[in-house]
Formats: sequence, C-alpha cells, structure tokens
Amino acid sequence: MHTNGQFPAANMPELFQGRGTRAYDRIARWLLRGLYTRIAEDVADVAPDNGTVLDVGTGPGVLVAEIARRRADLRITGVDLSADMVAAAQRNLGPFGARAAARVGDVTDLPFPDDSFDLIVSSFSLHHWDDPDGAVPELARVLKPGGRLAVYDFERAPFDMLVSAARSRSLLTGRPARRDLIRTGVPVFPRCARHVMTAAPA
Ligand SMILES: C[S@@+](CC[C@H](N)C(=O)[O-])C[C@H]1O[C@@H](n2cnc3c(N)ncnc32)[C@H](O)[C@@H]1O
Repeated sequence: MHTNGQFPAANMPELFQGRGTRAYDRIARWLLRGLYTRIAEDVADVAPDNGTVLDVGTGPGVLVAEIARRRADLRITGVDLSADMVAAAQRNLGPFGARAAARVGDVTDLPFPDDSFDLIVSSFSLHHWDDPDGAVPELARVLKPGGRLAVYDFERAPFDMLVSAARSRSLLTGRPARRDLIRTGVPVFPRCARHVMTAAPA
C-alpha cells in the first residue's frame, strides 16, 4: 500500500463481476461516454496507419468501441482480469467484427507475444492494479520498439510506481515521460491525469 497521498493499488474484484459489471457497463456507456470520446480522440490522433492498439483493464470495452468508431484501420484488443467484464466488452464490440476484440488477462502476465502493439492505452484501471511495479516489464514487452503507452487515471493514481519501475529496469526509455491533466467532460471528476511513456526505438 502507498501512503504518499496516492491511491492504494488494489483490485476490487467484487465491483467488476456479476451485478457490478452490469452496473458499470451502463454507467460507462451512458454517463462516462464523454470521457471515452476524449481519450479515443487522443488515440485516433497518434495511432499509426493500420496499427495495433491494446486497452489494458478495458472493463466493458467502451473505450475500444470509441476508438474503433474513429479509426477503421486499427486492430484493437481489450484485456481485463474480470471474465464478466470481458463478456460485456465482447457484447459491446460485436458490431466491429474482427477489428475489435476482448480477452481475459492480467497486466502482469499479458497473453500476447513480444512486440505486439504500436500503442497501449489504459483508462481508470491503474489504481486497481495489485502490482503496478510488475506491470511495467509486461507492458514494455508487448509494446513494439518506439511504441507508446498512455495511461489515464485519477491524479492520485500510482503513476510514480510506473515511473520508478521503468527507471529501475531501464524500460520505456524512448522519449521522456510526460504527464498532464486533461478535461474529462464528466462533472463529478472534471479532470484526469494522462501519463505517456515511450519504448526505445529499434
Ligand atoms: C474502473 S474499471 C475501468 C474500466 C475501463 N477501462 C474504463 O475506463 O471504464 C477497472 C478495470 O480494471 C480491471 N483490472 C484490475 N486489475 C487488473 C489487472 N491486474 N489486469 C487487468 N485488468 C485489471 C478491472 O477488472 C476493471 O474492469
């Protein structure tokens, strides 16, 4: 647990299965849509043509759907620890066919080969990861050389753990990490942090 003013890193599986998934799915699709629109626009601006995108902790896959709506050339995969969330994501992504998919997986043990993705995005999942430190080598492993990792979360999410884990292992040493605040369009939390790290080029 972190005590330096940051959120503790802890999953809350009871929130993300069964009835919790059904409630979250509705909230994500209706109340939070502006947030996913904002992040999807970021992704649509920077993803390379015909690129591959991973959304870590995708929940019901609403961000994946918003990205797919904007960029028909991308292949986008959502991954989540919760099988119920993945089932909800698969329902929401049905209209996009093979270009948008979701599967079960843990950020510390991602079910993908090395160098799979041009861009990794994650929204409001970091503060639920049990082991942000252990996530970094996996994120770096599946990111292609020069690829970009963009993590969006509450300002007090444990971003510093990602930074120190990357620094101590000399990972994600491309362009200097950058953190800023963006508007979410959601009245109850009008801003969130966006933290961008880059894999070293080949
Ligand atoms: C608050 S929800 C966010 C869902 C979605 N990204 C969004 O923005 O609405 C957090 C999600 O992170 C997932 N999660 C928590 N720990 C994880 C881990 N270690 N690996 C992958 N997903 C994880 C949870 O199952 C949950 O679906």
